[in-house]
Amino acid sequence: MMRSLICAALLLLFLGPAHAAEKPGQHAVATAHELATRAGMDILERGGNAFDAAVAVSAALAVVEPASSGIGGGGFWLLHRAEDDFSVMIDGRETAPAAAERDMYLDDEGEVDRDLAINGALAAGIPGAPAAWVYLAEHYGSMELAELLAPAIELAENGFPVDQKYQTLLNFRAHVMLRWPETSEIFMDGEDVPEIGYNIRQPDLAHTLRRLAEEGFDGFYKGEVAERLVDGTRAEGGIWTLEDLAGYQVVEREPIRATYRGYELITASPPSSGGIAIAQMLNIIEPFDLAAMDQVDRVHLLSEAMRRVYRDRALYLGDPDFVDIPTEMLLSPHYAAGLRTTIRMDRALPSAALAADPDLAPESDNTTHFSLMDGAGNLVSATLTVNLPYGAAYAPPGTGVLLNNEMDDFSAAPGEPNAYGLIGFAANAIEPDKRMLSSMSPTIVKGPERTAIIGTPGGARIITMVMLGVLDFIDGNGPESWVSMPRFHHQYQPDEISLERDTLDSEQIEALEHRGHEVSIRGRTWGNMHAVMWDRRSGQVEAAHDPRWESGSAEVGD
Ligand code: GLY
Repeated sequence: MMRSLICAALLLLFLGPAHAAEKPGQHAVATAHELATRAGMDILERGGNAFDAAVAVSAALAVVEPASSGIGGGGFWLLHRAEDDFSVMIDGRETAPAAAERDMYLDDEGEVDRDLAINGALAAGIPGAPAAWVYLAEHYGSMELAELLAPAIELAENGFPVDQKYQTLLNFRAHVMLRWPETSEIFMDGEDVPEIGYNIRQPDLAHTLRRLAEEGFDGFYKGEVAERLVDGTRAEGGIWTLEDLAGYQVVEREPIRATYRGYELITASPPSSGGIAIAQMLNIIEPFDLAAMDQVDRVHLLSEAMRRVYRDRALYLGDPDFVDIPTEMLLSPHYAAGLRTTIRMDRALPSAALAADPDLAPESDNTTHFSLMDGAGNLVSATLTVNLPYGAAYAPPGTGVLLNNEMDDFSAAPGEPNAYGLIGFAANAIEPDKRMLSSMSPTIVKGPERTAIIGTPGGARIITMVMLGVLDFIDGNGPESWVSMPRFHHQYQPDEISLERDTLDSEQIEALEHRGHEVSIRGRTWGNMHAVMWDRRSGQVEAAHDPRWESGSAEVGD
């Protein structure tokens, strides 16, 4: 008896705090808006789990950050459940309406009509976000949907103050929104972009959220709200039907998994391109000793990896329910080794020398990401979007539902760039009911001692930002460092390394140019990363928001 007690005590001593801390006790939420962070923290403090909090945060963001995500949009929620070590991606991506056609944005001359593709009802896919909230609550949450939507309903009813981000992004879209007075009445102050502090109330959205809270899926996708959505979209040239809405389905997807130097990545699967691309880049660079490299070598090597992987993104990736993605090949170490042999450390390989002819350029900096965890060790990494700022800039009357313009994430014609210059091929062509390719890359990384929850908005750059953050985590740094580090990016076409200001000094830029790189310095920042780190040895939890926008917020609680 005494011997087994001693053995148990020794075992406890041996397992020590690392084992004890597998349930952190602490919880954390990091989002793009303090009111959304608070909504999530309140749910956790009332005993809800991480998945409950994810619903509350998503719905609150839909109200207070309408530029970036919303009930009229979609997203990916990457979940990790501690009790059975189970991970899954909830795919609430928008779908093309059944009447969508491959050439629907082409004019008589065969040119893409950019206005139709991004502004108003025809630009909108069938929303997935509200179905995903209901699904999350029903399958993974522990609280009633109505309780989880209550903070969002309150914010929609009573309003929230305009902040710098709301104002800056509305400046890009106000001229379009003014085409629909009933929409601009909600989001603007008369015909003007509102001042900081102006109160935005959304009573129609509060009503729609209440229908969802009371009736679940049917409250949005059937009945009164669905009828208003269909009437409102069709009145403005849209093609939605009641069947499109009633037929929307959330999909559970197996996440993409990768390992890198003893760290396990769990990340977004198609219809996101992010997880495959991140895994490919890590496979390519794994044999190199990044820590021993100077910054020029490091930027050169990573840019060469980015270049090759973005080419594959353009060629192979699309909705996995419609196209055969060669996932096994793309993730194979042998394929990565083949790509690696084409990298020279003293010379950039021009993108034109790699087969294929896309002409890619950056996507939107919109979209939103949040990271959170509960005291039981359940984790959520979620990236949500309406595509361009304020989506299609149109809300069907009486719904408060600002529509996404996600249809522009399809390739409207082979080789034709979308709003941000991204082109695609057959894999991402428009087809009825198909999901458009995304770059959203919610990611969870488990190391020997620490776990990271990470992601960001930023269009095509999401993928490289997440990879740089993951590498910084693996270098031993914490979330404050991942979210604030200067960023660089290469996406095959245009054939250039783009830099945030202050990423490299002039000597380093010259050294890269000497190796044959075109280097372009962007006047503005990109991304809005929100991240959480759990040190499983000490049990300590840290959360951080991106300093690039003032409105971000991160909280840790006991
Ligand atoms: N709309 C941006 C994305 O899904 O990647």
